[in-house]
Amino acid sequence: VPPPAACDDWKPTLYDVSSSDDHERLRALVESGEVQFRHDTIGDQLEELVAAREPARKLSRDETAARVRAHLGHRTLDTHGTWVYYPWSRRLVHVLPVDELREVRTDRNRYKITAEEQARLATFRIGVIGLSVGNMAAVTCALEGIGTRFRIADFDKLSLSNLNRLRGGLHELGVDKTTIAAREMFEIDPYLEIERFAEGVTRDNVDRFLLGDGAEGGRLDLVVEECDDLYLKVMVRERARALRIPVVMDTSDRGLLDVERFDREPARPVLHGLMGAVRAESLLGLSTRDKVPYVLAILGENALSTRMAASLPEVNESISSWPQLASSVALGGALAADIARRILLGQHSESGRYYVDTEAIVRDGTGALREGSPPSPSTDPSPEALRPPDLPPMPRPHEAHPEAIRWMVAHAVLAPSAHNAQPWRFRFANGTLACIHDPTHDLPTLDFEHGATWVAFGAMLVNLEMAAAAIGLVAEVDPFPGGAEERLVARVRFRRGLVVRDPLLEWVPRRVTNRRHDRTAEITGLDAAVQAKLHAATGPRARLKVLATRGALDELGALMGACDRITAFNEAIHRETMPGYRWTREEVEAHRDGIDVLTLELSPADRAGVRLLSHWPTIHALCRLGGGRVLEDGAAEAIAAARAAGLVTVPGTTRENYLEGGRAVQRVWLTAAANGVAIQPMTSLPYLMARLERGGGEGLSLAERQALGQLRPRYRGLFDTPATDGEVLLFRLHVGDPPTVRSLRRRVDDLITFD
Ligand SMILES: Cc1cc2nc3c(=O)[nH]c(=O)nc-3n(C[C@H](O)[C@H](O)[C@H](O)COP(=O)(O)O)c2cc1C
Repeated sequence: VPPPAACDDWKPTLYDVSSSDDHERLRALVESGEVQFRHDTIGDQLEELVAAREPARKLSRDETAARVRAHLGHRTLDTHGTWVYYPWSRRLVHVLPVDELREVRTDRNRYKITAEEQARLATFRIGVIGLSVGNMAAVTCALEGIGTRFRIADFDKLSLSNLNRLRGGLHELGVDKTTIAAREMFEIDPYLEIERFAEGVTRDNVDRFLLGDGAEGGRLDLVVEECDDLYLKVMVRERARALRIPVVMDTSDRGLLDVERFDREPARPVLHGLMGAVRAESLLGLSTRDKVPYVLAILGENALSTRMAASLPEVNESISSWPQLASSVALGGALAADIARRILLGQHSESGRYYVDTEAIVRDGTGALREGSPPSPSTDPSPEALRPPDLPPMPRPHEAHPEAIRWMVAHAVLAPSAHNAQPWRFRFANGTLACIHDPTHDLPTLDFEHGATWVAFGAMLVNLEMAAAAIGLVAEVDPFPGGAEERLVARVRFRRGLVVRDPLLEWVPRRVTNRRHDRTAEITGLDAAVQAKLHAATGPRARLKVLATRGALDELGALMGACDRITAFNEAIHRETMPGYRWTREEVEAHRDGIDVLTLELSPADRAGVRLLSHWPTIHALCRLGGGRVLEDGAAEAIAAARAAGLVTVPGTTRENYLEGGRAVQRVWLTAAANGVAIQPMTSLPYLMARLERGGGEGLSLAERQALGQLRPRYRGLFDTPATDGEVLLFRLHVGDPPTVRSLRRRVDDLITFD
């Protein structure tokens, strides 16, 4: 039987296949017969690399192969990357070049660790002293990509009684602990730089451990100190403090973590001052039993776990050292790596002591959901949202009595409003109906100068007029009459007239916002006759511009997506809009306004995504981390499924103009509905452009203004609306299935008062 394979080997040999020298050396290695196993998955690794670079697409086999070929360029699989020989296991392994290997290996860290943070982490040099907990800390750092240069120190060799907590195999008994750790780390990343201090850290080599051999940049950025030699603990800290290197330590009892920021506090007493004025030298050569009082001073006699406290007097009596468990050591490695990452990235700055005491955190009586989860609120649609709205019976004609007013208002409030805010209430007195602005659900940032509010009122007045005519009344509308009533948008008087049934009236209860986009319309354009009807419906005081070429629509979808992303990241808009989303049937029925999430026609996955992003901290983090492309997809997909896009404009930007524009919108929308064409307004782009152009971008950050400013010429390239005109409603036109649910309205009796 041959002796154990190269017991001291701890470092792999790297062969760069693009170098002919290395090629020769590799051939010699193979011919020597030393290699026992050859692992070549370079093709798979490259496939993962190209897939990781395009996560938004599911690449087909052919596309993947094409991208791999393009990536290799003039190289072949055989001449790409590095062959790594691990002499202790006699394995020869083919891996990607260093940057690519690290890119793929840490790909799943993204968002928890950004690519930029990962690159920064790779520049650090970490020292680990004591390789029980330290082994876990070092290996976890290597796994997570925290540091790429390590100095690891332990004088000890693996013994059988270490195997209750230290990862290693029985075949490694007697092997240096530094060797075991280095091998494991190199097997994760052969490009690491590891220096081994197999004699441990001593007074003589401590500076070399902390500073390197004098070469530029050899200083450690952080020390994980996990030895049980008290002298060493103090001595290493004294030197680290002099050199301003932070030290972290986990003690495998109650998840105790100590952080000493000597980099920031060069006068801080070592070990938080718990050892008093003791100097390292006085701790030299203590027996395990003699260490106990000091250990107690450091850990705090009342802060030990009960079992740890009970064990200490037993040291050298019934046990040979204090107990340590694998679970505590694994936790300690995780805690040390976690705090190392945050210190190095500047996300944690204080010194201090922390307990991640699993027995206190996870114990009877502390668990969430102990009684099981209550049934989740129903996300089924409200039955009311599945049928046309209820309307009161038609009243007798020619008289503006309360039943007639109720009937007319019931039609009026079926008008659309941004975010289904239903920004109105009514008062009927002395034969006059006052239509009053209810600001409860105003959207001050999105709704520039209340344009959208006046559009909703305009649409509502069209319904009111048609309903009045149907019962032989003429509604005489006096817009913004002023007077004592604050927020009075229109005063409506009724006089007797002919019974006139506008054919659009029957579409008032049937008109809906249709946000479905389940078919990709290759077809663009609208039937010419329908388009002519829409233009006619716009009336003389507004204009309709229609975009119906694929190129223009794609551009519009991209612009809307970019604008949606800006809007989603704006905290004021978030705060204004989110309370208006209704997530459950109970919420829908209780409020009867706002956006029933079911009307967004989202897939379950998209709905879950929207739910997550309804929490400001989540979306804020996404913004800071540079993500959020997903926020652009909805608009692009909706426009991709549209036949055309329309923009209604008015010749002026006063509130009267927007009110007039709202009338045009409602007539266009009802006409579209009557002709089987669905409409979804998509308005944030024109409204934010109005804020930018006419409002100086007030309420938007500089970055948001700049981002919108960049979209502006492209937007103006699509719709060249004169600066003097108001853009009333931008919408997409599509043909397809009706929406699955419709938005409810507040009850008429809750909206009208009769004096
Ligand atoms: C001025 C205005 C702006 C609107 N903007 C949008 C929009 O940007 N996106 C959207 O999906 N719906 C938009 N809508 C549609 C409303 O959300 C919708 O009308 C409301 O929820 C009521 O639903 P209904 O139209 O089905 O009755 C807008 C409506 C109006 C009147």
